[in-house]
Amino acid sequence: MRRLLLVLWVAVLSGCGGSALERGPVTLVFKYARILGPADPVPELLREFEAAHPNVRVRGEALPWTSDEQHQFYVINLEGRSPGFDVMMLDVIWVPEFARAGWLLDLTPGLHPGELAPYFPSTVEAATDHGRVWALPWNMNVGLLYYRADLLGKYGLAPPETFDELARQVVRIRAGERDPALDGYLWQAKQYEGLVVNVLEAFWANGTRLLADDGTLFPEPGRAAEALGFLRGLIASGVSPAWTPAADEELSRRAFGDGRAVFLRNWPYAMDLFQARDSPVRGRVGIAPLPGFAGGPRGAGSTGGAHLGVSRRSRHPELAVDLARFLTSERAQKAIALGAALSPTREVLYHDPGLVRSRPELPALHALMRAGRSRPVTPYYLLLSSTVQPEFSAVLVGLKAPARAIGDARLRLSHFLDALR
Ligand code: GLC
Repeated sequence: MRRLLLVLWVAVLSGCGGSALERGPVTLVFKYARILGPADPVPELLREFEAAHPNVRVRGEALPWTSDEQHQFYVINLEGRSPGFDVMMLDVIWVPEFARAGWLLDLTPGLHPGELAPYFPSTVEAATDHGRVWALPWNMNVGLLYYRADLLGKYGLAPPETFDELARQVVRIRAGERDPALDGYLWQAKQYEGLVVNVLEAFWANGTRLLADDGTLFPEPGRAAEALGFLRGLIASGVSPAWTPAADEELSRRAFGDGRAVFLRNWPYAMDLFQARDSPVRGRVGIAPLPGFAGGPRGAGSTGGAHLGVSRRSRHPELAVDLARFLTSERAQKAIALGAALSPTREVLYHDPGLVRSRPELPALHALMRAGRSRPVTPYYLLLSSTVQPEFSAVLVGLKAPARAIGDARLRLSHFLDALR
């Protein structure tokens, strides 16, 4: 009997119990930016993934808020040996750069035929480099105009289609309201990626761009300078407040959300927060396409958003891919769109009756997202962006003439790009 017990004991130690100790639970680390909104649905989704994978733990770790700080974090951590994370949230603009740096796992071999068909084509384009797919689209953004529907209604105004109209409406409403604390048009001009987005949108509205298809920088420098000068004029004339060169998405979103402005350029996430139960502007905000310039093309918002990539140094690549797939699935994206302010990358969700009931702006957003434009898709995007940022910024704070800033940016970039050729 004692012998039998001993045999059983040894079997338990060396058998299931022992090997479980050896294998231990696997921990996956998921890096993502905190999700604003009524409740962050991500932790619950991670618990759900764990429940379906009993030997796996997933630790969600926060990234800094701005795209530039996130990029810095990744560059520092991915250059070392072991990055310490498996799945990472990536700004859409970084995929070609990270893929070429060898930091991302190539997802192409494991993709099922048609797996990417439900996503916005622009998100798939942003996830692809050299015909290989390096990330799965997770949430989608497009620049839009928020307006105070109550104030426009009070003065019998329709949402502006041009910037001239917007400026006139600001003057009219502020004169009527006689409220010195009411600002006009808020947008993002702090020196960071958000500034580049806002300037590109002004370039597009003025019929030009930063990088032509043949690689020419500032193909129409006059038009680019004009757009930049126009943005500076918004601040100089007081249509936009003097603090605009310090504004990022959150600073401008909070001011508008406190009822302190008539118009705001921002991403779709802000709508949910404006509609929150305790929001001072609840039920008083409308969305519209960004304005254009009189006689120019219609205004278009920049697309943006986040993809999920898997680190090439992950010790558990298959599980990490499973996690990225799970978080980008229709079910998870629906949970995220319901619980938080992010918008899906899967087009069908914009017409999902359950979702539209709680987020009635989704069908209108779908059209705006389809009409949005991408920033240049190039592995040198960060180089481009960080080189033009101080030049654009110098104009917006009134330190440099627009034409001079465009000339200087062109010169500095051509040095870099020549060196990279
Ligand atoms: C948002 C967008 C991202 C963009 C950033 C700029 O996070 O999703 O694509 O680069 O804003 O601030």
